[in-house]
Amino acid sequence: MSQDIILYLTDREGTTHSLTAPTDMNMNLMELCKSYEFPVEGTCGGMALCASCQVYVSSSHPLPERSEDEEAMLAEAFHVQENSRLGCQIHLTPELDGLEIILAPEE
Ligand code: FES
Repeated sequence: MSQDIILYLTDREGTTHSLTAPTDMNMNLMELCKSYEFPVEGTCGGMALCASCQVYVSSSHPLPERSEDEEAMLAEAFHVQENSRLGCQIHLTPELDGLEIILAPEE
């Protein structure tokens, strides 16, 4: 059964938008941002190789641990904070309903 969730995304101008996201399409956060036409490059296509999809997670949702690839990429990226994640590594699941994220600045 399909279930949509709502995510709250704050863009680089500081405006918060609520996004409706499907959880049954195997989408990740980077793809969702792109589908709403936010300026998220996703240059590597979701391979954890570019960090252009970096977001800050500002709610306390339990998220899957960063993978080694994600850690390695964030170690080299700019503007990294403790709550930084690569959007492409976060798959949209029903548990993420209400997730709050902020787009990281462009590099
Ligand atoms: Fe390249 Fe996420 S799209 S790291």
